[in-house]
Amino acid sequence: MSSYEHELKQRLASLNFLKKVIYYPSIESTNTLAYELVQKDFEEWTVIIADTQSRGKGRQNRNWYSPPNVNIYTSIILNPDISYKHIPSISLLTGLVVAFTIEHFTNIQTILKWPNDVLVNEKKISGVLLELLNNSHDMLTVIVGIGINVNSDIKSYPNQLLNLATSMMMLANKTFDRVEILLYFYSLFYKWYNYYCTNGGFNSIKDRYMQRFGMLNKYVSIMNREEKIDGIVKDIDEYGRLVLKLDNGRLLSISSGDVHII
Ligand code: BTN
Repeated sequence: MSSYEHELKQRLASLNFLKKVIYYPSIESTNTLAYELVQKDFEEWTVIIADTQSRGKGRQNRNWYSPPNVNIYTSIILNPDISYKHIPSISLLTGLVVAFTIEHFTNIQTILKWPNDVLVNEKKISGVLLELLNNSHDMLTVIVGIGINVNSDIKSYPNQLLNLATSMMMLANKTFDRVEILLYFYSLFYKWYNYYCTNGGFNSIKDRYMQRFGMLNKYVSIMNREEKIDGIVKDIDEYGRLVLKLDNGRLLSISSGDVHII
């Protein structure tokens, strides 16, 4: 058993709300495994952690580069007791809790890029991938996948990521204990997720999100499936959708897409 696995099993046992902790030294993707488990019979608050992923999934069908020994790759299985309209913005909530966590450990202010990228110095330090399905009891299930660049040296990343990614180590000039970060993150996520579900979704966390939101009043271009939409970012609505003012003055709420600040 690696020391990462040993420490995880030992220290995460103190988190009573976690129903099951599943660890793999190497796996295709923690989200893909979570998807398979949910179709069998797995309780919510099961978490999966891997040291490395061979086919880590990112948003918009991209890959998530997942080298071993350095970063956090985890998925959480949830059955949210909240109206369907508030489900997508669980990804904004997760980005916010990751931001709280990184700030706690590094003392560095993070910026949130809608919907859930966490950035420092315009470089990405974490990503969140939300997947929805029905479990074996026909209950809506959300898989929240989180990747955090903790101790990775970005200089060893593939060329195309060199200028786009950063890590906690690169920013703080020291290494961090991944288990301590996970322990902190899960505890905080549990607290904020329950708050979010009992207080009606995104509006209950909007203040905190907006304090870190880096896109307000910026002119952006969004690729939403095949369509490109340009406009000025005016707000995020109660369902976590980005509100754009289009060139013709009309307001449009966008629920998904890749945003580029122009
Ligand atoms: C993004 O594109 O920003 C989302 C990245 C999400 C990566 C995490 S790593 C753990 C979990 N398993 C995956 O395959 N993806 C998510």
